[in-house]
Order: sequence, then structure tokens, then C-alpha cells
Amino acid sequence: MRRSVLAAASALAIAGASLAQAGPQAEVLHWWTSGGEAKSVAVLQQEFSANGGTWTDMPVAGGGGDAAMTALRARVLSGNAPTAVQLKGPAIQEWYEEGVLANISAVAEAEGWDKVLPASIAAHMKCEGQWCAAPVNVHRVDWLWANAEILKANGIEMPTSWDEFNAAADKLQAAGVIPLAHGGQAWQDATVFEVVALGILGADGFQQAFVDLDPAMLASDKMVAVFDQMRKMRGYVDSNFPGRDWNLATSMVMNGEAAFQIMGDWAKGEFLAAGKVPGQDFLCASAPGAGFLYNVDSFAMFDVAGDDKQDGQALLAKLIVGQNFQKVFNLNKGSIPARVDVPMEEFDSCAHLSAADMTSSSKDGTLLPSYAHGMAMRGAQSGAITDVVTAHFNSDMSSKDAVAMLVDAVANSL
Ligand code: GAL
Repeated sequence: MRRSVLAAASALAIAGASLAQAGPQAEVLHWWTSGGEAKSVAVLQQEFSANGGTWTDMPVAGGGGDAAMTALRARVLSGNAPTAVQLKGPAIQEWYEEGVLANISAVAEAEGWDKVLPASIAAHMKCEGQWCAAPVNVHRVDWLWANAEILKANGIEMPTSWDEFNAAADKLQAAGVIPLAHGGQAWQDATVFEVVALGILGADGFQQAFVDLDPAMLASDKMVAVFDQMRKMRGYVDSNFPGRDWNLATSMVMNGEAAFQIMGDWAKGEFLAAGKVPGQDFLCASAPGAGFLYNVDSFAMFDVAGDDKQDGQALLAKLIVGQNFQKVFNLNKGSIPARVDVPMEEFDSCAHLSAADMTSSSKDGTLLPSYAHGMAMRGAQSGAITDVVTAHFNSDMSSKDAVAMLVDAVANSL
């Protein structure tokens, strides 16, 4: 009897001790579920565990994060916000304004983030002067990916203008190859659209249309030309495109079913995860046009109670901007580090091109936020634009009608 009471008491003591020593906790909401993405987020999970943290994974599948953002809203509305959330661009400030974000300035100041992050990236991470998010990377959106063997077999060089792209696509189509791998999901339509828009409007025009939301640029003949090119793109995709996930489109390029894909460099994460070699199996080039569309992934911490959770947030924020994490994560993810002092020797030629182009674009004023990936404007405006882009892509709407609809949609969303 006595022995069993003692045993029960010591079992309780052990349970109590393990509760008290639970250590840093984090429930992390993210949408990194494809092969390359999962490999990348695992790097963070491992570092977190290696530093005594307990990670509760909350992946919400769906490229571009629309489904993840719906899940986030439901969690916050029910008063049960996750501790850390993949969140980026002006959405960070929108959540801050709702009063639900934690202040991570103590970590940022202790770690000297202002000294290692470019000012343009740091600005996205601050809310009224305080740090409210931690950046993991810089993805470039305006890329053209290609299957090296298909281009070679068809005597095609990487196109440097949209006319060259169209000529290459026509030639491939005549040879029975699908010119463009694409998934018919609104965010993928928007991705192709903004890359075409950068090429045709130029960096100044892109800034006027998708950062300043200038009605004159939105209504311009150049914008009509952007929709004309989108109509051509629609003719270059296969008939099974509706609903296809972006990584399956990347696989089509890998397997030689299709020649090109227009997608951010998370596509490179897929090529690499499948053991493909840049310059050999697949080619990367900036899409026709001058400029650089950036998409910075980041994590925001939500206001939650409990020392274990708050310790988890501080640990996570510290690790995310840490030098080693920024290197290993980005080697897998296809992006480049957000920190400026990460050694780049182990990165491939596509990453080096991205880093060089980002520096030169930043100097000549052509470094621009991606609208399709939530970096340029608030959700109401980007949603209104994407609705028009998708409606046009999936119908026989004329370019002029699309432009008229675009102007109205933006005006009504303001
Ligand atoms: C982007 C995100 C990337 C990538 C992609 C596809 O919005 O910034 O990290 O994962 O979606 O899911």
C-alpha cells in the first residue's frame, strides 16, 4: 500500500517536473508542403528541436498560401491563434492593426537585425517601428524555367523577349511539345500575369500599375498588350491545366512533358529536391524584361499567453534570422538569404544570378514587390486584380474588356 502511494507520488512528481520543464513551444502554421518546401521547413523544425524546442506542425496545403490564410483567420476568430505563422508583405501590418501580433523587438535588437538585413526587407518586418515579423529569404518571382534537353533538341535558346518566347512556343507546339507548364489556380494565373506585366510595362509601368494603383497606367494601351500576351499564354498550356498544383507543373518540365514554366524560384527547390542540376537538366533565366520582383517569406508571432509559448516565439525568431539557418534553408528552398552576410559559395548559378540582379535592381530602382505574392498591396486590392486576371484567362474576354474590368475592380476595392 505504502509502496504504491510512494510510486504514485513519484510518478506525479516526474510528470510535474516534465511539465515545468516543457521548454519552448511553437505551433507553426505554414503552407510548405511540396517536396522542396517540406525539405526546407524541416531545417527549421530540426534547429528548433536541437535547441530544446517542441514544434507542433500545422501545415495547410495549397501553393501561394490562400488556404493557409483562411485557416489562420478561423483560428484567430476563435481566439486560438497559432504561435507562429508564415505571413508576409502588407498582410503583416493588416494583422498588426487587428491587435493580434506579438512584439519581437527584444530578439531583433539583441540579434542586431537592423545591421544584417537590407532596409527594404526590414521595413516589411516592422509595424509602427516595432519588429513584428522575421524574414527567412528572398524569392524572385520573374523567372523562366526550362527543360534543357527539349530546348536543345528543338534548337531553341532561352528567350529574351516576349516575341522570342512566342516564336519558341509556336515552334515547340508544332513539334508536339507542351510549351508552357501551368496550373490553373488563381494565384498561378496572377504569377504569370505579373511576370508578363513587368516585361511589357517595364519597371516604371509596373510600379505605377501595381504599387501606386495609378488608374491611367491600369487603363493604358500597354495594359491591353499585357492581356494580349496572356491570351497567347493561354494557348500555350495543355488542356489539363485547370486546378493543377504548381509543383506538378514543375514536374512536367522535369519529365520533359513541357518546355517552360513561369514561376518563382521555389520551383528550383522542386528541381533540386528531385536531384536535377541547374545548367544541365534545367535552365533558369530572368523572364523577358528588366527588373526584379521580390517575394520575401517571413514568420509573424501571434499574441499568445504562456512562458513556454513566448519562449518558443523568441527562439524561433532568433533561429530564423540566424546565419546558419538562412544558408541551409535557402539552399533547399530555391531562394537567397534575406541576411546580407551569408556566405554564398555553396549556392548554385541561379541563386548567384538572383543575388546579382537584386543588387543591380536595387541600385537602378527596378527592385519591385510582387503583387501576386502579397508584397505590393493589401489583400482587398490584390484579390480584386487577381479576379480579373483569372476571369480573362479562363474565358474569351477581350483584352480591352479585361482592362476596363481591371480599372473598375481596383477603384471599387479602394
Ligand atoms: C509563395 C511562397 C513561397 C512558395 C510558394 C508556393 O507565396 O512565398 O515560399 O512556397 O508560395 O507555395
